[in-house]
Amino acid sequence: MVKTKKMEIRATDTAKLAWTGDALAFGIFEGKTAITGELAQLDEKLAGTIAELIEETEFEGKLGSSAATRVGGKSPIRKLILVGLGQTDDLKTDTVSVAAAAIARQAKNQNVKTLGISLPVVKDAATTAEIITTAIMLTLHQDNRFKSEVEEKGAKLESVELLELGAQEIAISKGEKVASGVILARELVAAPANSVTPITMAQTALEIAKEYGLSLEILEQEDCEKLGMGAFLGVAKASDLPPKFIHITYKPEGTPRRKLAIVGKGLTFDTGGYNLKVAGGIETMKMDMGGGAATLGAAKAIGQLKPDVEVHFISAVTENMISGRGMHPGDILTASNGKTIEVNNTDAEGRLTLADALVFAEKLEVEAIVDLATLTGACVVALGDNISGLWSTDEKLAQEIKTAAEIAGEKFWEMPLEEKYFDGIKSDIADMKNTGPRQGGAITAAVFLKQFVEKTPWVHLDIAGPVWAEKESGVNNKGATGFPVRTLVNWVLS
Ligand code: BES
Ligand code: MN
Ligand code: ZN
Repeated sequence: MVKTKKMEIRATDTAKLAWTGDALAFGIFEGKTAITGELAQLDEKLAGTIAELIEETEFEGKLGSSAATRVGGKSPIRKLILVGLGQTDDLKTDTVSVAAAAIARQAKNQNVKTLGISLPVVKDAATTAEIITTAIMLTLHQDNRFKSEVEEKGAKLESVELLELGAQEIAISKGEKVASGVILARELVAAPANSVTPITMAQTALEIAKEYGLSLEILEQEDCEKLGMGAFLGVAKASDLPPKFIHITYKPEGTPRRKLAIVGKGLTFDTGGYNLKVAGGIETMKMDMGGGAATLGAAKAIGQLKPDVEVHFISAVTENMISGRGMHPGDILTASNGKTIEVNNTDAEGRLTLADALVFAEKLEVEAIVDLATLTGACVVALGDNISGLWSTDEKLAQEIKTAAEIAGEKFWEMPLEEKYFDGIKSDIADMKNTGPRQGGAITAAVFLKQFVEKTPWVHLDIAGPVWAEKESGVNNKGATGFPVRTLVNWVLS
C-alpha cells in the first residue's frame, strides 16, 4: 500500500493576484470572456496567458466547461485553469458545485499539487466554501477497493486554497462531513452482493453508531416475526442470509426541534425471485440497496453534524433470491399493519420490504417520513437516469425536499399520487396485489406504499435512475453516485 498524504482544504482572504502555487483556477461567466479589471491585471502578470487560453480553446464560459494551460517563464503560478460558470442570471449553489468539479478534474489531469480556487460567492462565503469542499471530495473520490493493484499516476493534489472567502474552517469541515456520507453510500452501492450483504449492512450501521454515538437497534428475523412483518419476511425467505432490520437513531442534546424518519429500500441483490429477471436486467441489481445505502450515508453525515433534530434511519435489509423456501407468485403475505397482500409478482419486492419499514417508522411518532427506493424501472422510463420521482401526501413536506434538493443540485420531479390507480392493484382474494398494470407502474408502486402510512406526512422518492451514473458528470464519477444523501442532509438541517 502506498501511503498518500491527506488532501488539505482551507479558505483564505488571499486574492487571485497575490496567490502563488501550482495551479490557479477561476470561473468565467458565459459571454464574459472580455478581459477587464482585476483579470486584466492578472493577465498582464501572466504574460497574456489568460487571453491566449480563451482564444485558443474558444472558451465561452459554458457551465462546466474548462480549459487549462501551462504558464510560461518564471511565473509564480505554473498552471492556469479556467472554468465556465454559465449565464450570470443562472448562478446558484449547484453552479459552484459543477464548476468546482470541473476544476478538480483538470487539477487531477494536470498533476497539480497545490491548487488555488476562486469562484463566485453564492448565498454566503460559508455556503460557498462548504459546497466547493464537498464537490472536490466527491469528484476526486476513487474506489479502488476491488483492484488487486492500483496504478498511482502523476502527482496527487495536496492542498487546496479557496481564495477570497475568509477563514471558513467550520464550513469546510461541514463540507467534508457531507462528502463522507455520500462516499459511504457510493461505496455501499458499488460493492457487489458477495461483499455487501444484510450482515455487512448491519455491521456498517454498527460502525457508524459506535463512531458517532448514535443508538442502534437491529431487529433479527425473530424480532421481525414478533412484530408481524410478514411482507418483509416473505421477501427474505428465499435467502440463505439472515434478514436485518436496521434502525439507527440520532438524538440531539435537549429537546429536538423536529422528529424525522428516513426509510431506505435495502435489497442487497434483487434476482426478481420466481419472477426471475432476465439478462440485461439482473446484472446491475447489486445497486438495489441504494436507498438503504443513502440512509446510512445520511446517518454518517448527520452523526457528525449533530443538528438539533431527532432522526431515525431505517432499512429493512435482505436479498430477493430463489430457493425451495422462496415465495411463490400468488402467495398472500400479511404486513405488520394487518393488511394482506397477494404477491402476483415476486419482482415487486421492494414495496413489500418498505411496507413493514413504513409501518415501523410511523409507530415512532415522527413528524415526517421520507422513503427512498430503487423501486421501479417504470420511473426510469418516465424520468430518465438523472431525475428521481417524488410523491407526497403533504405539500409542505414535498416543498422542503424540493428546496433541499435544489441546494444539493440533485433532481426530483413530483409525480401524482393518483388514488384511482389503486384499482389496478385490487385483489380478488386479499386486500391488495403488489403489482398492477405496466402503465403508470411507478405511480401504482407509490399508491401501494401509501397503504402503509396512515397519517404521518410522507414523501416517497423513486431513485432507481440517479443512484447510478453511466458516465461522469458534475461531481458524479462513472458508477455509484451516492444520490440523494446531500438532499437528505440539507433537509434534516433545514
Ligand atoms: N429493483 C427493481 C427496480 C429497478 C429496475 C431498479 C431497474 C433499478 C433499475 C424492482 O424491485 C423491480 O424489479 N421492479 C419491477 C416492478 C414490476 C415487477 C412491477 C420493475 O420495475 O420492473
Ligand atoms: Mn425487483
Ligand atoms: Zn428491487
